[in-house]
Amino acid sequence: MTGRTVRGGLPARRRLPAHGAVVVTGASSGLGRECALELESRGFHVLAGVRRSEDGEKLLAESLYGRLRPVPIDITDDASVRASAELAAREYGGLRGLVNNAGICVPGPLECVDSDQFRRQLDVNVVGHLGMVRAHLPLLRQSRGRVVNVTSGLGKAAVPFLGAYSAAQFAKEALSDALRRELAPTGVRVSIVAPGAILTPIWNKVSEAGDRVLSDAPPAVAELYRSAFGAFMEGNGQQALASRTTPEDFVRAVVRALTDVRPRTRYWVGADARSMGRWARLLPDALLDRRFSGITASVGAPDPVDRRQG
Ligand SMILES: NC(=O)c1ccc[n+]([C@@H]2O[C@H](COP(=O)([O-])OP(=O)(O)OC[C@H]3O[C@@H](n4cnc5c(N)ncnc54)[C@H](OP(=O)(O)O)[C@@H]3O)[C@@H](O)[C@H]2O)c1
Repeated sequence: MTGRTVRGGLPARRRLPAHGAVVVTGASSGLGRECALELESRGFHVLAGVRRSEDGEKLLAESLYGRLRPVPIDITDDASVRASAELAAREYGGLRGLVNNAGICVPGPLECVDSDQFRRQLDVNVVGHLGMVRAHLPLLRQSRGRVVNVTSGLGKAAVPFLGAYSAAQFAKEALSDALRRELAPTGVRVSIVAPGAILTPIWNKVSEAGDRVLSDAPPAVAELYRSAFGAFMEGNGQQALASRTTPEDFVRAVVRALTDVRPRTRYWVGADARSMGRWARLLPDALLDRRFSGITASVGAPDPVDRRQG
């Protein structure tokens, strides 16, 4: 291939310029924060969605180019979602992209995840994102802009003890596929960015949320899973610590989804996410079940370490 290359190793001529306004949800922390700052440095005007004003102030203090603006967005609150679209129209005259990154993870054996916890998982990771898309589509249509939906390797294969999170990611994948097909005639392109494990604050939150799910479950039910779930959560944390995938890898995929002349339908980030996608596509259910069976092997067994004692 010929042509000057840009960061990420692709020929520059296959990229659109990084200008115009982009909304990034969940910019207070982790991947969203990295993404907001890097998109700003590349030339975009960034409307960085945060829920607390102090997070916006911190982000602003780190912004170097004067193109980042913290915006109060709780994606489960229709008024703040609408206000974000109004601000983009009023102050930036339109929108080039929407990065649906905000998310939470409710872990736990499904028998222990109560309906409120399950609704919260779907409300944030699915319903909220569709609300963001609906509110910002009129602006994206005008610019033939981009929607980037952040899912996960668990959007293709459901891992035991992360069933609620997987259900939300599967749903977000389905929304992305349907939206991509519905919006194709309008020129709005929809891509999925599916990361594997990347060390961010989400992992501490997951561990705390797991403790809560188990302590809120009926004790006899929690007892059935305590040992297997505890071991799973420990292994999960180790996996994040050992992961070689970085937030920069994630951001590169988002930049590509926003600027590739012909954006892919999906950008995997990390070997683990890619493998998960491959297993889900190629392995029959029975083999996938066997692959995950170690996680649940001790369900029903007494906990060798009483984790309630800390
Ligand atoms: N890190 C990984 O290993 C990994 C792997 C696969 C997929 N992902 C996905 O990547 C995305 C970012 O994850 P992360 O690791 O960066 O997690 P994180 O550090 O916990 O960040 C999550 C962000 O989402 C925001 N958020 C939560 N609920 C919200 C709501 N109702 N409205 C608006 N914002 C809300 C949080 O804001 P507050 O600070 O206000 O709570 C925070 O800014 C998530 O969608 C996650 O599922 C992450």
